[in-house]
Amino acid sequence: MLPVSRAIPRIPNITNTARYFFSKTNTMAPLSKTHKLNTGDEIPAVGLGTWQSKPGQVEKAVEAALRAGYTHIDTAYAYGNEKEVGQGIKASGVPREKIWLTTKLDNDWHKHVAEAIDTSLKNLDTPYVDLYLMHWPASLVKGNTKEVYNDWDFVDTWREMQKLVDTGKVKNIGVSNFGVKNLEKLLSAESTKIVPAVNQIELHPGNPSPHLVEYLRSKGIHASAYSPLGSSDSPLYKLNSLTKLAESKGKTVQQVLLRWGVQKGWSVLPKSVTEERIKANIDLEGWSLTDEEIAQIDEVHKENSFKVCGDDWLPVKIFFGAGDSD
Ligand SMILES: NC(=O)c1ccc[n+]([C@@H]2O[C@H](COP(=O)([O-])OP(=O)(O)OC[C@H]3O[C@@H](n4cnc5c(N)ncnc54)[C@H](OP(=O)(O)O)[C@@H]3O)[C@@H](O)[C@H]2O)c1
Repeated sequence: MLPVSRAIPRIPNITNTARYFFSKTNTMAPLSKTHKLNTGDEIPAVGLGTWQSKPGQVEKAVEAALRAGYTHIDTAYAYGNEKEVGQGIKASGVPREKIWLTTKLDNDWHKHVAEAIDTSLKNLDTPYVDLYLMHWPASLVKGNTKEVYNDWDFVDTWREMQKLVDTGKVKNIGVSNFGVKNLEKLLSAESTKIVPAVNQIELHPGNPSPHLVEYLRSKGIHASAYSPLGSSDSPLYKLNSLTKLAESKGKTVQQVLLRWGVQKGWSVLPKSVTEERIKANIDLEGWSLTDEEIAQIDEVHKENSFKVCGDDWLPVKIFFGAGDSD
């Protein structure tokens, strides 16, 4: 007998998400998997991303996600939505201690770490965050983000971030957008006493960064995948190899992309402000990709390589090419 989803008559121009909801007869199964960090804490494998969510949408998205079984929300001071994230958490009724909350230190706050975390905690209306990330290895001058400090860099910033751990305001500290070169500099600095728990980086089949991922594994740093779907207008959704694979599994392309990331050992941070998509994106329990399917997705970048976040908008180089951020 054919699986239920394959027995559904084909409807022309139907979207992946709509097909998923037509074919779904059972209830959704939110993925409860976690990944262990070098601190012993467990980060939930799927978190809701909130970048580029318009004002007014984030609170509802966070509330819907938490009600749908998400236990992990990713935000940043730079997204300008920490207040709404806090409101969404409150509106969901889910107790704070059941939620993994990540926020990030903005680039022009590097000399003001203690003040920055207090500002974020106030915005989020919470006494602590589970993970505080240095958003970029870019120490920009306060009030003039076209310039970097000449007497301060990310090693100094990390020295200050380490002090937060004993305050109880942050449970874990980590970095984001760090390639091998910058990590080598950070880890070899005399003032570095804590190995980052997480490096949040762009990871999807168009930018799988095997060298960086292997480096992180060797240092015990967890890789968290941003833009796991390929971000807005993702070119991945139309790839024949992925649509065929998704169809054969009775899943959406988005679910296959997320399941691939989770099975690679990463936490994935899909952003959506659309309730059905929010629900579908965590409905990843009870099925998996085979090793062959994973290997097939690993090949995608050979023909369809792309990167969402570059460093041209910053006055400092962040990505140094193959072998560093590949
Ligand atoms: N550390 C960093 O520097 C950094 C950089 C980039 C991103 N991030 C984090 O990572 C998160 C995710 O990255 P991202 O926002 O770039 O992109 P993403 O999660 O890869 O993709 C988001 C896009 O996919 C759409 N989408 C989501 N689920 C879908 C589904 N099931 N079917 C069809 N379309 C779907 C969303 O549309 P709708 O919202 O309209 O549904 C949105 O346009 C961010 O929100 C942020 O939290 C961090």
